Amino acid sequence: MNAGNANGAGLGFGLGLRPEHYEAIFEQPPRVDWFEALTENYMVDGGRPLYWLERVRSHYPIVFHGVSLSIGSTAPLDLEYLRQLKSLVQRFEPRWISDHLCWTGVAGKNLHDLLPLPYTEEALAHVAARVRRVQDFLGRRILIENVSSYLEYRHSRLTEWEFLAALCERADCELLLDVNNLYVNSRNHGFDPLVFLDAIQPARVRQIHLAGHSQDGELLIDTHDHPVCDPVWTLYAEALRRCGPVATMIERDDHIPPLAELVAELDRARALAASALRARAA
Ligand SMILES: [Fe+2]
Repeated sequence: MNAGNANGAGLGFGLGLRPEHYEAIFEQPPRVDWFEALTENYMVDGGRPLYWLERVRSHYPIVFHGVSLSIGSTAPLDLEYLRQLKSLVQRFEPRWISDHLCWTGVAGKNLHDLLPLPYTEEALAHVAARVRRVQDFLGRRILIENVSSYLEYRHSRLTEWEFLAALCERADCELLLDVNNLYVNSRNHGFDPLVFLDAIQPARVRQIHLAGHSQDGELLIDTHDHPVCDPVWTLYAEALRRCGPVATMIERDDHIPPLAELVAELDRARALAASALRARAA
């Protein structure tokens, strides 16, 4: 299957493509190596989103990131969604495609949330089979992202990291490691995030998300409306020490600042990655 460069290391440092920045990207080319486009925003017949995606794609590599695959649901895979995804992929040739380890609905109801799965052998077999079907349909590997969660299932027999590592092997898929989601879950569920990082196979980690979160009482909530916090930067360096260079981006979905502000935050990722990788080489 199409795997591209090992770890996607050559892609460098990217940003989530947001309509608020369309014009700014072309006013003065920012220090951004690639953009991540939210797949569902471009599943339209024409108009402004596709115009801008064409423009961005003609200057930058892009990757596609979806929220609607619902790979963990027991509802049948949405073949119409997959057909639209495949046609977008053929048109824009993204370096890779990602979605989340979650379910978003069942029995015709969409809950518009990325809900966690019970980490059981049964769920693992179910999700692995569905990832394989999606990959067969698209003719390439996909990346699966770890999600933030606020509850656990009594039925779980595996840890989140055991589940993800086993899924990558069984489905032969890759991992989008969201370091903020890892930090949020480590706080919400009380585990050591380094144990998670030690369990995943570095060669499977193709992309990293960095983002901010907010706090509601005891819980950390994955709101993507703040800059990346210091513990997440520290964890990012730990991830790179284990994985080597991995394509990294900042994800901001609310309180979106001017492009220059996100580019400055991305510069921090570049600097931190450089020192983490120097330490790794030493
Ligand atoms: Fe993410």
